[in-house]
Amino acid sequence: MIIGFVQTKGGTGKSTLAVNTAFSGYMKRKFGSIALVELDPQGTLKSWWEDRDEMGYDPGNVSFHHISSTQKEVFQQGIKSISDYNELMIMDIPGESTGKLHTRFACAFCDLVIIPMRMSTNDESAFMNNLYPIIKEIIRAVPRKKGRFHVLPVFTHPRQNLQNCLDYFEDVLPHQVSCLPIVFPTRSVYENYNRKGLNLNEYAKSVASNKKYTQQVDRAIEDIEKICKTILKVGKGNYDIN
Ligand SMILES: Nc1ncnc2c1ncn2[C@@H]1O[C@H](COP(=O)(O)OP(=O)(O)OP(=O)(O)O)[C@@H](O)[C@H]1O
Ligand SMILES: [Mg+2]
Repeated sequence: MIIGFVQTKGGTGKSTLAVNTAFSGYMKRKFGSIALVELDPQGTLKSWWEDRDEMGYDPGNVSFHHISSTQKEVFQQGIKSISDYNELMIMDIPGESTGKLHTRFACAFCDLVIIPMRMSTNDESAFMNNLYPIIKEIIRAVPRKKGRFHVLPVFTHPRQNLQNCLDYFEDVLPHQVSCLPIVFPTRSVYENYNRKGLNLNEYAKSVASNKKYTQQVDRAIEDIEKICKTILKVGKGNYDIN
């Protein structure tokens, strides 16, 4: 199964979601081998992974791959060979790239395209102007690909009412794109957990003696479990996942 976090707008949580879903307990229980793939030439995840390596943290069943080439044939070949050897591939797609090459490829290639998006007019118009035309083009060319494009509401207030959120996106999204019945709330822990190469679970262990931090990180772990569960439920139609 191939999941891509795609959004032409920058800073919407793509990398944070890619890392945390790859390292989630939920995905670990469902898949034997998980590849986390960064296509961003900036290499944000790459330096985080190098920090992990240096600290000697155990990656478990997650492998990391950084493909920096912007040459279509080169990165396509790289991705295809990684997907052949892994049960789950999670891709972090850069916001902007030359001619939106990565975005186009990911929208056509991934089984599920998750689009992190804020409840804001800014995100909405950026989506309609930049990403939606690509989605429309792909669905027009291959109609069976309809059903793979899902918005994940991000940076919501931790006490945001889910139904209000779903109503909002039902109003603003075109019918080819649906909204997942789950949100990725704003939490300060997402800005801090990854220092020195830690993942969320390792961070949880490192703050185990602090009750306040432990509560915060536990909520974040719960967010991610629910997001993974929802994503796989949506993908279940096509896959043999319990
Ligand atoms: N749920 C969240 N709550 C609070 N902060 C968050 C959350 N998700 C991400 N962040 C923070 O927001 C910033 C942007 O997140 P991230 O780098 O994941 O976005 P991105 O879409 O990958 O950005 P880019 O387009 O630049 O690659 C980071 O500083 C990250 O720590
Ligand atoms: Mg990123």
